[in-house]
Amino acid sequence: MRFDVVTLFPDMFALVRDQGVTGRAHGQGIWSLHTWNPRDFTHDVHRTVDDRPYGGGPGMVMMAAPLEAAVGAAQAARTQQSLAAAPVILLSPTGRRYDQQAAGELAAGSGAIFICGRYEGVDQRFIERCVTLELSLGDFVLSGGELAALAMVDAAVRLLPGVLNDGASALQDSFNPALDGLLDSPHYTRPEVYEGVAVPAPLLSGHHAHIARWRREQSLTLTAQRRPDLIVQARAAGRLTQADERFLATLANTPRD
Ligand SMILES: C[S@@+](CC[C@H](N)C(=O)[O-])C[C@H]1O[C@@H](n2cnc3c(N)ncnc32)[C@H](O)[C@@H]1O
Repeated sequence: MRFDVVTLFPDMFALVRDQGVTGRAHGQGIWSLHTWNPRDFTHDVHRTVDDRPYGGGPGMVMMAAPLEAAVGAAQAARTQQSLAAAPVILLSPTGRRYDQQAAGELAAGSGAIFICGRYEGVDQRFIERCVTLELSLGDFVLSGGELAALAMVDAAVRLLPGVLNDGASALQDSFNPALDGLLDSPHYTRPEVYEGVAVPAPLLSGHHAHIARWRREQSLTLTAQRRPDLIVQARAAGRLTQADERFLATLANTPRD
């Protein structure tokens, strides 16, 4: 798995490349990350990558040529490694909202070439010529695509085999198909009583079926409260058992279709 990132701020990517579980996996060669600075693909003395917008208005726009040359260099490097062609993904608030499903799709491929916009955005002709997909981190505007790319790479890499110490832990996370797309249940660790609050009794029972049922009911409760849309989705996909439905019927705020 190889990610290439076209960015004016390559140092920001040390966060995923060097730190935490993704950093360890990078060191083990499970995935790799390469950055390409558009300034290295300019031909003027000022290494210009942006210019004023046609039609006027505030801010600057990233020029097409340095971005296209950087993408070309990334694609050539990938070809040299005999990697399959990768999607060219522009980070953009106008793109498809990134979610756990998109992270899974990314993790199932051979990687991607991310384009991090800055200023007011990038020249539309570059998008039309080179970009295969636009992804958004959410309905808010960041100063640049770097933080979005970091989050997307992190979410995809932790799904790769061998990245997490306990391979099963990603399966227990919120939104995961193994959790039927529901939210995760609460977690507790030692001490058994903290500031007068005890760990819920089922977790101390040692009875695996009781623990699993308690966790499932906590997931259902939390999801019904905070993300009723996910209950509706799980039901439509046939992922809720009769026991789940009986439990949901006891909740005051049971979401219906
Ligand atoms: C200041 S933003 C430009 C916003 C653009 N003028 C708009 O209103 O859609 C600069 C860059 O940050 C990145 N960016 C901002 N918000 C983002 C988001 N929610 N998801 C992904 N990338 C984002 C994009 O690469 C964008 O080109």
